[in-house]
Amino acid sequence: MAELTLTGKNPTALKVDALVVGTCKTSDGLAVVADQLPAGLVHQIESLAPQLGLSGSRDEVRKLPAGDGVKAPVLVLTGLGEREADGTFAAETLRRATGAAVRELAGTTAVAVALPTSTEDDLAAVVEGALLGAYSYTEHRTGDVATKQAPVSSIEVVTGFARSQRANAAVERARVVAEAVHGTRDLVNTPANLLYPASFAEAAKATAKNLKNVKVTVLDEKQLAAGGYGGLAGVGQGSARPPRLVKVAYTPSKPSGHVALVGKGITFDTGGISIKPAAGMQAMTMDMAGAAAVLHTVAAAARLGLDVAVTAYLCLAENMPGSNAQRPGDVVTIRGGTTVEVINTDAEGRLVMADGIVAAIEDGHDTVIDIATLTGAAMVALGTRVSGIFGDRDVRDALVEAGTVAGETVWPMPIPEEMRPSLKSGVADLANIAPDRWGGALVAAAFLKEFAGDTPWGHLDIAGPAYNEKAPYGYTPAGGTGHGVRTLLAYLESRAG
Ligand code: BES
Ligand code: MN
Ligand code: ZN
Repeated sequence: MAELTLTGKNPTALKVDALVVGTCKTSDGLAVVADQLPAGLVHQIESLAPQLGLSGSRDEVRKLPAGDGVKAPVLVLTGLGEREADGTFAAETLRRATGAAVRELAGTTAVAVALPTSTEDDLAAVVEGALLGAYSYTEHRTGDVATKQAPVSSIEVVTGFARSQRANAAVERARVVAEAVHGTRDLVNTPANLLYPASFAEAAKATAKNLKNVKVTVLDEKQLAAGGYGGLAGVGQGSARPPRLVKVAYTPSKPSGHVALVGKGITFDTGGISIKPAAGMQAMTMDMAGAAAVLHTVAAAARLGLDVAVTAYLCLAENMPGSNAQRPGDVVTIRGGTTVEVINTDAEGRLVMADGIVAAIEDGHDTVIDIATLTGAAMVALGTRVSGIFGDRDVRDALVEAGTVAGETVWPMPIPEEMRPSLKSGVADLANIAPDRWGGALVAAAFLKEFAGDTPWGHLDIAGPAYNEKAPYGYTPAGGTGHGVRTLLAYLESRAG
């Protein structure tokens, strides 16, 4: 991860490769948002903005020669859009603008950021955005592409709070957050030939190693079969690479609560015998984003020493159409005894998640939150940047709020009562799909609800925002985004004393 320091120095004096400042939209054009820049330079940029094609809008990043009076050779303008009514910029605006600039500076070594930080919260957002933007996945690049795409390695953030204790604590927290988000992105970006249930379990152990109060338990395919985890066993049986259920428990000495996070970890989703069309199937390498997010959320909670206990349940399987694969019409028994008719083997996420939710309930947490790239229907409903939150009202409200604090958009979704009867099966307690496709994300949520019992429960469908198949924006790269980690962590922080 990039090294980040705070400085109270004049940004024009910093010996860096590039200096990042803000631009914004005003009633009469563009304004440069930076203290201490030479007045002549500011005037030049503001008056030439139309000719330079600069508007100051969000996601507009432009590199210019900095000219005399600035030590850094390159000046980077990053757009903040319009000011809020009170004249400030929202935290997420600062996070995104900083992230976009740092991301666009990949291939550059040392960067300084001089964006407005009128409060320590603003500073925290700038720091977080900078670290989140300093990411690229070059694991499988050879030659000089890897160097050209290498993230910025050193970031100096200019602020009046350089010596504030709260500000430095915020930097520490941002490092932990960014490490968790980057770790999640790395797992999501790892191709499925290299990441499969057993290797994911090893990765979980490696992540937890050296973390205080964290314990990892792995159930292999034999233990899953013996333990009656029929969802994981059924989905996993079509692959030569068998399933795993991994528990990662963080238990501080005097926890203020016990939270379970259950993550969908389909390391590749071909659909199984109900096989998916070839076009676009490669994206299903991301179908383990929920499991990656819960693993790294627990790691971050441990690093921050939060006083809330939290256990991740990673439901790991590869959904393949091998000769031993489950067939449409098969009946499987979820842990705890509920039987499910598998009408469509591509609705596999809810099967493995049901086992994970039951395992979490058995362990006696006060709240269970599951997170899964569960349905294409969630993308139809909410697009690619918003996740849906279903479940009990209190949990739902708390996660919407946590998302707002964290800078991730989480939107409340209903589980209407007519969804449950649509899951009736002629032969088993439940069918894994409804007869029609309407409200598919709601149907899937209704299925999971059957396993949550009386424990307060929330379900995040992150099918859209977990993976960015389009161009990068803000601090969000192409590929794995790490979506969910920051929301879950903000939720845990709100639960901690
Ligand atoms: N992993 C997919 C959901 C998905 C689709 C995530 C696209 C991200 C992008 C899930 O296992 C799946 O295949 N769901 C089916 C359910 C259907 C068979 C009821 C779907 O959404 O089509
Ligand atoms: Mn599927
Ligand atoms: Zn899936």
